[in-house]
This record gives sequence, structure tokens and C-alpha cells, in this order.
Amino acid sequence: MGKKEIAKDYNSTAGIYDMRYMEEQLLKISFILKRVMVHDGETVVDAGCGTGMLLSHLGNGFHIGIDTSVEMLKEAKKRHSGAEFVLGDVEALPIRGESCDKVFCVSVLQLVEDPQKGLDEIMRVLKRGSAFGISLLNKASFAKGIGGRIRGAEAQVYESESMRDVFVMGYKNS
Ligand SMILES: C[S@@+](CC[C@H](N)C(=O)[O-])C[C@H]1O[C@@H](n2cnc3c(N)ncnc32)[C@H](O)[C@@H]1O
Repeated sequence: MGKKEIAKDYNSTAGIYDMRYMEEQLLKISFILKRVMVHDGETVVDAGCGTGMLLSHLGNGFHIGIDTSVEMLKEAKKRHSGAEFVLGDVEALPIRGESCDKVFCVSVLQLVEDPQKGLDEIMRVLKRGSAFGISLLNKASFAKGIGGRIRGAEAQVYESESMRDVFVMGYKNS
């Protein structure tokens, strides 16, 4: 499926996304947020934020949700009026380089045309020494060897029997 079809698909199901996936996504989000701590005042990007579940679990700070589906962003805005929500693509993040304290991307990279570009974008926008938390469906072919695909970072991979994603978390080091 191309980008437009994917956005159309999420636009048409945005209203029922939480009912279908909230339980599953909250498990993943809590797994990530236990390992990548977010502090008040930080600049945080959630790439492919969907309905804004992850951002709604954070305290105060400059929080930006980015997604290619306008309807998912509208749902996110209802949940979290204090964050900025921007229509944009993880493969070309509309964010200045080295400007973020944390970047998350949960269950998104299995959907994108060039997931390596997405990973490189996440590393580009992170400040040096800052942390990221990424997951993608473990059945995606790109998930194999994901740790070695992250350039310029110390990364640790976590696999889970109970969740459908593989997780990679770490720090940008160059
Ligand atoms: C499975 S949902 C995950 C949403 C959210 N991260 C969560 O954990 O609930 C995938 C999301 O990625 C978005 N998406 C798909 N392709 C994208 C892209 N190239 N850039 C940004 N977001 C994208 C979809 O619109 C959808 O909101």
C-alpha cells in the first residue's frame, strides 16, 4: 500500500482505533516509557502518534505528535489539547536537526515505504546523548536485525512473547 492509501485507511478507521487497539498499544507504550524516561520540560516527538496515546502519558513539556492521517491527528487533539499535532511523515520529519530530547515511534515503521529513512530521520532530529524508543510489528521483514540498522546510536533490542512488536531503545551517540 502507498502512503496515500495508508493515510486514507487510518482516516476511515480513526474513530474506532482506540476501541480496537488501545489495550494492545498501551502495553507497548508502558513497556517503552518504563525504559525511556521523559522529564518535565523536554521536547518530545512521537512520530506516527496516531490518536496520541503515548503523548497523553507524559507530564509537561513541548510535545509534538506527527502523523500522515489527519483524522488520527484530530482524535489525538481531542485527547491531548496541550500538544502540537502536525501532519507529516516519519520519512521526512518536519523538525529541525538535533532539537529533540526524546523521540518515539510506536508500531509505525512496518507501514512506511523506506523504514531505514524513518530510522535515520529519528536519529537526525535527536540531540546527541538523547534517547529514543521505537517499536514495529515483529512480523515485518525490516524488524530482523533492527538493532544493527540504527546508525549513530547505542541501541538495545527487546523481543516480547506477549506483544506483537519488537522494540529498540537507546541513545544517540554521534
Ligand atoms: C498502528 S498505528 C500506531 C499509532 C500510535 N503510534 C499508537 O501506538 O497507537 C500507525 C500510525 O502510523 C501512521 N503512519 C503511517 N505511515 C506513516 C508515515 N509515513 N509517517 C507518519 N505516520 C505514519 C498511521 O496514520 C497511524 O496513525
